[in-house]
Amino acid sequence: MWFEVQRDFETTDGAAGVDGVLATVTFEVDEPFLDSAGGGLRIVANYGVGVNNINLAAAERRGIVVANTPDVLTVTTAELTITLILSLLRRVAEGDRLIRRRESWKFQLEFMLGESLSGKTLGVVGPGRIGREVARLGAAFGATAIFAGKSDPIEPLLAAADVVTLHCPLTPQTRHLIEADALARMKPTAVLVNTARGGIVDEAALVAALNSGGIAGAALDVHEYEPRIAERLLAMENVVLTPHLGSATRATREAMGMLAVDALRAVLLEGRLPANRVVPPPPDVEAGRRPGVDGRRPLPRDRPRRPYLRPIP
Ligand code: DGY
Repeated sequence: MWFEVQRDFETTDGAAGVDGVLATVTFEVDEPFLDSAGGGLRIVANYGVGVNNINLAAAERRGIVVANTPDVLTVTTAELTITLILSLLRRVAEGDRLIRRRESWKFQLEFMLGESLSGKTLGVVGPGRIGREVARLGAAFGATAIFAGKSDPIEPLLAAADVVTLHCPLTPQTRHLIEADALARMKPTAVLVNTARGGIVDEAALVAALNSGGIAGAALDVHEYEPRIAERLLAMENVVLTPHLGSATRATREAMGMLAVDALRAVLLEGRLPANRVVPPPPDVEAGRRPGVDGRRPLPRDRPRRPYLRPIP
């Protein structure tokens, strides 16, 4: 992938004077960054599907295309979600820790009993591509999915689900969607799983709910203050933690990289808008149909913008 970038483009680490940016999801593309890049910037290609690291409205105002990497990571991320659910319910990480501590153990009928996913209600918050794939995989394990999208009340799902799994984008509307009140609505036997974005969960409230037995456990691949993890979570046996691995297979990362490079190539070398763009909104978003990118809302279009596509120099 990097070969493709260097073959087609001259690369630099600094922002000043660049035509395009290839950003990872932890890189903040905010107004100051866009200012420092200057008026020549035409595209930000995000190496990820989540675009909460990018100020989309600022990009749109400046006529800058923003692209992401949908679809190619759907199965990989859903797979990790199911892995986390099963690890938590069947106490896999906990058992692994017990053995590594060299604690004495032997097979006993009541030793480390867990829960099966079979027969459980899987509450999918965010029925986009990844959420629906998690539901599909969950069904293969005998779970029944229920869904809450961005215009649905989340309370019925929280009250009914045995596993609440988060797959919505992080936006101002979903920041701390899962806070103390939401956690209090979950069954004390239910668990929370997050492979979306850390900021969707109020981590302090989650620690409190786990501590008081308000919910039974959590499996977290993303974290509110990533890469920092709340100290108290580290000590909890009913918590499974992974370091933002949702899309982390070589094949998926390569496919994501190629999508990002294709977007750079489209705008900078071929003078066309890439299909995997978030800004300007693809036609299905403009028309108010299902968003092309997980849950994204159309942006306000009331300010003058520079043209997205300018002549190729
Ligand atoms: C994404 O794509 O948004 C993941 O979080 C990182 O791969």
